[in-house]
Amino acid sequence: CGIIGYCGHRPAVPVIIEGLKRLEYRGYDSAGVAFLQGRDLVSVKAEGKLGNLETKLAAQNVYLATSGVGHTRWATHGLPTEKNAHPHLDASRAIALVHNGIIENYQEIKKELAESGIRCVSETDTEVLAQLLGLYFKEKGSLAEALSAALARVEGSYAVVVVSRDNPGMLYAARKHSPLVLGVGVGENFLASDIPAFLPYTREVVFLDDGEMVRIDAGSWQVMDAATLAPKEKAMRHISWDVAAAQKGGYKHFMLKEIFEQPRVVADCLTGRIDRETGSAWLPELEPLPAPERLFIVACGTSYHAGLWGMYLMEQWAGIPTRVEIASELRYRDPILGPGDTVVAISQSGETADTLAGIQLAKARGAKVIGLCNVVGSSVAREADVVLYTQAGPEISVASTKAMCSQLTLLTLMALVWGRKRGVLPAEVAAKCLPALEALPAELDAALPGMRDRAKALCRVYSEARSFLYLGRGLYYPMALEGALKLKEISYIHAEGYAAGEMKHGPIALIDPKFPSFALAPVDALYPKVKSNLQEVQARGGKIVALTHPGADLDVDHPWEVPAGWGPLATFFMLPALQLFAYEMADYLGKDVDQPRNLAKSVTVE
Ligand code: G6P
Repeated sequence: CGIIGYCGHRPAVPVIIEGLKRLEYRGYDSAGVAFLQGRDLVSVKAEGKLGNLETKLAAQNVYLATSGVGHTRWATHGLPTEKNAHPHLDASRAIALVHNGIIENYQEIKKELAESGIRCVSETDTEVLAQLLGLYFKEKGSLAEALSAALARVEGSYAVVVVSRDNPGMLYAARKHSPLVLGVGVGENFLASDIPAFLPYTREVVFLDDGEMVRIDAGSWQVMDAATLAPKEKAMRHISWDVAAAQKGGYKHFMLKEIFEQPRVVADCLTGRIDRETGSAWLPELEPLPAPERLFIVACGTSYHAGLWGMYLMEQWAGIPTRVEIASELRYRDPILGPGDTVVAISQSGETADTLAGIQLAKARGAKVIGLCNVVGSSVAREADVVLYTQAGPEISVASTKAMCSQLTLLTLMALVWGRKRGVLPAEVAAKCLPALEALPAELDAALPGMRDRAKALCRVYSEARSFLYLGRGLYYPMALEGALKLKEISYIHAEGYAAGEMKHGPIALIDPKFPSFALAPVDALYPKVKSNLQEVQARGGKIVALTHPGADLDVDHPWEVPAGWGPLATFFMLPALQLFAYEMADYLGKDVDQPRNLAKSVTVE
C-alpha cells in the first residue's frame, strides 16, 4: 500500500493525489482520501484506478482543505471494494486513518469492540484501529494519548497517519515494522510510506523508527516515543535521488530492491500465522479442511520450482504423498485425480492461464483446491476453494524473487500444520523450525550485502560463459532449476538445472573448461554425494562455483560460503545468492534487468 499525509499552505487534496500517483508503481486496487472541509471530516474512496477517485473528487470543491491523508490499497484482508478502501473512520466519523501493514489480532479486537456496541463496517484489519482510536479519544480527549493507547493494543505491523476533526491542520502518525518517512518542507510537512510521494516538494527527510509517533502541522513537527509520548530528537537527511530512483528505494533496479526485501517478506508471511500459546504454526484458512491424504501441487515458472521444493517437506514432515505438476502439462493429461484429493495451486499473480486451467480441471473432477497467491481478489484467489495469501507485497520486476521466498515460507508453514494434524511431524522439526524461521529475517538481512559483493565479483569471472549447468540434490535440485531459470531469464546466458546425480547420464558430455557448473553443495546428508558429482565435473576440466556452508572442505574453483541456518531453511540463504548471481551478471552484461525481452510478468494466455 502507499500512504501520504499533508499539512501546509497548498490545497491538500491535489498534493495528495499527485503523491499517490507517484506511488502507483507499487500497484493497488483501490484508493481514498480524507480531509477537513470546514467542520466536516470528508472521506472519498473508490475502487480501481486513481482516475476513479479523481472523478469522484471532481464533483466537490476540494480546494479549501490544506491538510489531509491519502492511501492506495494493495489488499491483504478483504476484497478490493470501496467499503474496504482506506481511509477508515471511527464510529463518530470524527477521525480518519490510513494504514500500511497487517494487524494480527484484529478479530479479537473486533469482538471486544462489538461488546462495547461498536460495529465495524468493513472486512479489513485496519478498521479496528480507527474504531479503537475513536473509543479512546472519547475517554482521553487527547489524540496523541488515544493513538498511543490504541497502538498498545494492536499486534502486527503498521504505518498509520491520522486526521481528526478536533485537531484541524494537524496530523499524527506512527510506525512499527512498516516504512514511514517525514518530509520537511517550508511552511508544509509531509508523511508518506515512500519518499517519491513528496519528492517534488522537499528533499529533506526524517526516517521514523519503530515505536515512534510524530505530530505535524504546516510549520512544525515533533517526533515522540509512541508509548510514553516523550519528545525525541531526530536527524534530518538530504535525499539526492530523482523520482525514478526513489521508487526503487535507491536501488538500481526493482529486482535488486525485491531481492533485498526478502527478510521483510519472510517476516510478513509469518505475521498472524504463529499460535503464541502453543508455539505452533497456525493457518486459520486450512482449519476447516482435513489434512490431505494425497497432494497435487500445480504451478508454472518460478512458482513451480517453489512447489517442487515444497514436495520434500510435505513428504518428510507431513507424510503426504505429493506430486508436483507443470500446469500446462496437467491440463491436457487425464490425471488420476478426484474427490478426496487436494490440489495446491501456486501463483504469484493469480492470473496465469495454465494454472487457472489446472484449477478448473481439478474442481471439475471433485478435488479440493487451495490457492496460494500474492494478489488478493485475483482469479486464482476467486476460483480456489480456499486461499492463502503470501503477503509479499507487489512484485514489479518480471523475474520473480521475493514472491518465491514467500511461497517457500508458506509451504513450510503448511507442512508444519499438516504434519501436526496427521501426528507425524518429527519432534525436532516441531521444536526448531518456527524459532529458526523467526530468526531468519535478521540473519538474512545481515548476510545479503556480503552475498551481493561476492555475486558481483564472481559474475565478472564467468561473464564470457555461453552456458551454465546448475546442479543440486534433494531440496536443492529445485533450487538448481530456479538458479538456471533466473540466469537465462535476465542475462540470456543459456543455463540448465539438473539433478546432480543425473548429470552422469548425459550433460557430463558437455563439460569442458569453457562450460562452467554452478553447484549447490550445502553441508547436509547429501553433501558427500554432491561432492563426488563435482569431482566428476573437475575430472573433465570443468570450472565450478559452489554455494556451500562455512567449514565445508570443498576443493573447487570458487567456493561461496553462505550461512547454513537450521535444516531445510538453509534454502533461504541459497536462493538470494542464486538471484544475486543472475542479477549481477545481467547488470554487468548491460541487460534490461526488470523487463527482460520476450517475457511478461503475468502470462494470461495459454
Ligand atoms: C511468468 C513470470 C514468471 C512466473 C510465472 C508464473 O512466466 O515471468 O516470473 O514465475 O509467470 O507466474 P505466477 O504469477 O503464476 O506465479
